[in-house]
Amino acid sequence: MKKSIGAKTAIYPTPVLVIGTYDKTGKPNLATVAWGGVCCSRPPCVAVSLRKATYSHANIVARKAFTVNILSVARLAEADYYGMASGREENKFSRTGVTPVKSDLVDAPYGKEFPLVLECRLKHTVELGLHTQFVGEILDAKADEAVMGDNEYPDIEKLRPILYAPGSQKYYAVGECVGDAFSVGKSI
Ligand SMILES: Cc1cc2nc3c(=O)[nH]c(=O)nc-3n(C[C@H](O)[C@H](O)[C@H](O)COP(=O)(O)O)c2cc1C
Repeated sequence: MKKSIGAKTAIYPTPVLVIGTYDKTGKPNLATVAWGGVCCSRPPCVAVSLRKATYSHANIVARKAFTVNILSVARLAEADYYGMASGREENKFSRTGVTPVKSDLVDAPYGKEFPLVLECRLKHTVELGLHTQFVGEILDAKADEAVMGDNEYPDIEKLRPILYAPGSQKYYAVGECVGDAFSVGKSI
C-alpha cells in the first residue's frame, strides 16, 4: 500500500543546470538550478525556475537571455558553489577560474571550460509562486568534441552530467544504459 507523502516536488532525478547571465553592469554570473528541463522540441525550449531573491532572476528579466551550462561530475564542487554564493557579492567566474565567453547569439555568457552550453533567448515568463519559470528558446547548443557521440548529440556517458535528488539533496552520476527507447516496448 502506498503512503501519502504530501504535495512534494518528488521527481527523480532532476538535472543540475548552471545558468549564465549578465548583470546590469555587464558582470557575468553563474547560478545552479535543479528545477528545470526541456519543455518543447519545436521550437527547442528549456524551462528554468528561479526565485526572485536570486541575482540571476533580475539579470534574466533585464537581458531577456540566459545560457544553460551542463557540467560534468568532475566539476561537482563548482556546481555546488554556484548554488550557494550569490553574484551580488561575488564574481563566481573569477572565483572558480572559469572563462566567461559572450554568446554571439544572446545577451548572456557561458563558461568556456564547460562541455555543453545552450544559448537561450527568453520567450516566456510565468509567475508560479515562489519561483518564476523562464522559458528560453534554444538558439544554439555548443558542445566540446570530447563529449560528442556519433548522432550529432553529446554522449551521456562522455558528458557525465550531474543529477540531483530532491529531499536527500544529494548529487548523483548517471548509471548504466538499460534499453533503447521506442524499441524495448515492442516486446510487449
Ligand atoms: C543543487 C542546487 C539546486 C538549486 N536549484 C535552484 C532552483 O531550481 N531555483 C532557484 O531559485 N535556486 C536554486 N538553487 C539556489 C541558487 O542557486 C542560489 O540561491 C544561488 O546563490 C543563486 O545565485 P545568484 O544570486 O548569483 O543568482 C539551487 C542550489 C543548489 C545547490
